Amino acid sequence: MTKQVNDPGSDPGGDLAGKHVVLGLSGGIACYKAAELCRALIKEGATVQVVMTEAAEQFITAVTLQALSGRSVYTSQWDSREANNMAHINLSREADAILVAPCSADFMAKLLHGGADDLLSLMCLARPIDKVPLLLAPAMNRQMWAHPATQRNMAQLQADGATILGVGTGFQACGETGDGRMLEPPELLEDIVAFFTPKLLAGQQVLVTAGPTYEAIDPVRGITNLSSGKMGFAMARAAREAGAQVTLVAGPVSLPTPRGVTRIDVKSAQNMLEAVLEKAPAATVFIATAAVADWRPASAAERKIKKDGSGQAPRLSFTENPDILATLAQSPRARTGELLCVGFAAESHDLEGNAQAKRQRKGVPLLVGNIGPATFGRDDNALLLVDAQGSRELPRASKLRLARQLVADIAGRLK
Ligand code: C5P
Repeated sequence: MTKQVNDPGSDPGGDLAGKHVVLGLSGGIACYKAAELCRALIKEGATVQVVMTEAAEQFITAVTLQALSGRSVYTSQWDSREANNMAHINLSREADAILVAPCSADFMAKLLHGGADDLLSLMCLARPIDKVPLLLAPAMNRQMWAHPATQRNMAQLQADGATILGVGTGFQACGETGDGRMLEPPELLEDIVAFFTPKLLAGQQVLVTAGPTYEAIDPVRGITNLSSGKMGFAMARAAREAGAQVTLVAGPVSLPTPRGVTRIDVKSAQNMLEAVLEKAPAATVFIATAAVADWRPASAAERKIKKDGSGQAPRLSFTENPDILATLAQSPRARTGELLCVGFAAESHDLEGNAQAKRQRKGVPLLVGNIGPATFGRDDNALLLVDAQGSRELPRASKLRLARQLVADIAGRLK
């Protein structure tokens, strides 16, 4: 067994700290993405042992993956570096997971039949099924992916306990366009982190609002605010990692949708309310992180409002927007405890007093306070959880870390 010589750029506090991943490469042009994936796993604190098939070596060299992983790569079941000459046993016993990326159509077919004529397939077969999960990131031409044989193999591999991480859609190296690309390394990383997360919200349906709203004045102007949506998107991601089915109702922001989350884009507070009311009957948790505009122009002009040369500014009058959180908190399902409502409050001072008052006014069991100017647009935040018993501080950390802590707190309240 080789010793890891270094962890180049590894984050000991990363999302995969302490995890040991065997990264298997089978043959396919997506092997070039495996180099970046290897780097990404290590950056998140994992240790990575790369194993390559002969076909994979046609696409990328072992030298590249050795340099990135800091460990010499295994390519043969006859590798005499192992004292007992049983690399397939030794490597699979020390792994927290075996991740095959890319997983070719041929390799899937081989796995399905329990084929074991090369080190990677031998290792997949020899792994203790109940202890070492097998994750597959397929990569192939769209026709190969759509072929009944591949679809049949995939279904059977899932039934045999493997986790299929799905495929991307788009331009393929062969020049065709469709399903079958290997997922991008950041997508795979998000799925792998989620895979290792305890499923505290299994069976829950979580509805999240995020971002600002946009209230039109005329077709080209409107009123909005500085909410970036980052906290709400982090909540959606953390809830999905914890095993919930998540719907994210997002105001106008340009953030990428967290993996596995259903996203509904809206503009105004009224649009947001409509989307939330449509999804609320199935929800068991509602988390309102959106910075909803309190007022909207009483009527949006149909045409752009022009200067008329008089030097007089146009007079705008406003109507109050519906309070989405209070509306849901008053619904019968929230009152009987079938729907847990959680609010956020951005304050500028006396966080505890203001948050407690707001919690009672809105009628929610949990309100999460933060200082507005210290959070808008930033990647980190500090939270104060306020409920009927008092308050608890979650000290400054990344929004994703805080979201995960908040998800754990919410899960505790569901019991
Ligand atoms: O009243 P304020 O805007 O400070 O309340 C913040 C909380 O209420 C947040 O959870 C926010 O998403 C929610 N809210 C809402 N609809 C509004 C105003 C606020 O859902 N119209």
